[in-house]
Amino acid sequence: MPHSNPPRTYRVKSFGCQMNVYDGERMAEMLAEQGITAAPEGEEADLVVLNTCHIREKAAEKVYSDIGRLVKAGRKVGKDPMIAVAGCVAQAEGEEIMKRAPAVSMVVGPQAYHRLPAMIARAANGERATDTDMPEDAKFAALPARRKVGPSAFLTVQEGCDKFCTYCVVPYTRGAEISRPYSDLLREAEALVEAGAREITLLGQNVNAWRGENARGHAVGLGELIKELDKLPKLQRIRYTTSHPNDMDEGLIAAHGEVQKLMPYLHLPVQSGSDRVLKAMNRSHTVDSYLKLLERFRAVRPDIALSGDFIVGFPGETEAEFAETLQVVDAVRYASAFSFMYSPRPGTPAASMDGQIAREVMEERLQRLQASLGRDQHAFNQASTGKTCDVLIERKGRRPGQWLGKSPWLQSVFFEGAEADAMQIGDMVHARLGEAGPASLKGQVLSSQA
Ligand code: 5AD
Ligand code: SF4
Repeated sequence: MPHSNPPRTYRVKSFGCQMNVYDGERMAEMLAEQGITAAPEGEEADLVVLNTCHIREKAAEKVYSDIGRLVKAGRKVGKDPMIAVAGCVAQAEGEEIMKRAPAVSMVVGPQAYHRLPAMIARAANGERATDTDMPEDAKFAALPARRKVGPSAFLTVQEGCDKFCTYCVVPYTRGAEISRPYSDLLREAEALVEAGAREITLLGQNVNAWRGENARGHAVGLGELIKELDKLPKLQRIRYTTSHPNDMDEGLIAAHGEVQKLMPYLHLPVQSGSDRVLKAMNRSHTVDSYLKLLERFRAVRPDIALSGDFIVGFPGETEAEFAETLQVVDAVRYASAFSFMYSPRPGTPAASMDGQIAREVMEERLQRLQASLGRDQHAFNQASTGKTCDVLIERKGRRPGQWLGKSPWLQSVFFEGAEADAMQIGDMVHARLGEAGPASLKGQVLSSQA
């Protein structure tokens, strides 16, 4: 739809992974730099960026219904919102979106969003534009500096994927693996800490594949980057996600034993407990190599909390192969995990494989898997009861007067009553962990450090 007014307010809606959350924040910062302000809560924005996710089913349909809803809501208040579709659906289906949804002014891919301001200027002149380039010039260099962030901030260090797991769209939507330069990352981390971050989570589709060159010109991996970030005095916690079993190196494993600020938590997807399925998925690791890797982490950091991703119902998965996944879960005892039904993604090899599994079968397997994972998460939380640890206060809880923070093991910890009344976002409190629920624990403050 043609627009003739530059937008004054914006809203960025991010879906999917943490990388999208990061991109969404950077887009918002860029819009703010253009003088466009965040739309107040409950008010329709002049410009809406839908920062989409394509990893599983119905992503595109969701975008179309969101667009419909925005147009309708705008009409009610006499507004005609300028709509930008960003993220991985934009990358994968941009042209189709432009054809099917005349209300969309801009389609911009995850590697091109630094060009959004120019696209907005064109849209304000009534032009529609699509940019799904994957330019060599780093988008990061074109983005404004970080100014205001919450206590727990994301920092993208690596993007893209060269692994081509046969079920996954990421190598197509995010492009080839790239590592951001060491010095840029140190600069952004410093800016994040100055802007209020006490915890930084390093992000990448294969974050542990990050490689760089330090100030002395030596080739370094993620472990060395973490050691350098450890030196930032005001930074208290470091995390990283998501890793691939094949990119783990000794330096990163060792860092878990050496760097106090590196939290005792590892998200390492395995996807399936069957070697045959792993091979068909092109995962290039085995169940055994995965379990041995976890043992190396446990050896240097015995209290490490483990987390993983699982897919049930990959084409050809038999009941016996699924049972092997349950065995891996029983062997590892994950502290938390994400599990999904296989979703055929257009253009991926697995989508055209024989032996696609019926939905009812997938649903039943997912239920059984989630029962096991839920049991282990609850048990992990129960085993934490009585421990003392630092909790970083991140937001208000659902109930009035309640505050929510994160333990070193990424558990949600709730505080209530008088001690909660004195809390604010960004506090690091020393607490005793109390009663454990399936997905959270109660906390009791022992001492507080603002
Ligand atoms: N179907 C189901 N789950 C998928 N994932 C990635 N692609 C698919 C797919 N086609 C899951 C994997 C990955 C996580 C981010 O999403 O478990 O680790
Ligand atoms: Fe997708 Fe596999 Fe790459 Fe992860 S490693 S982003 S699952 S292709």
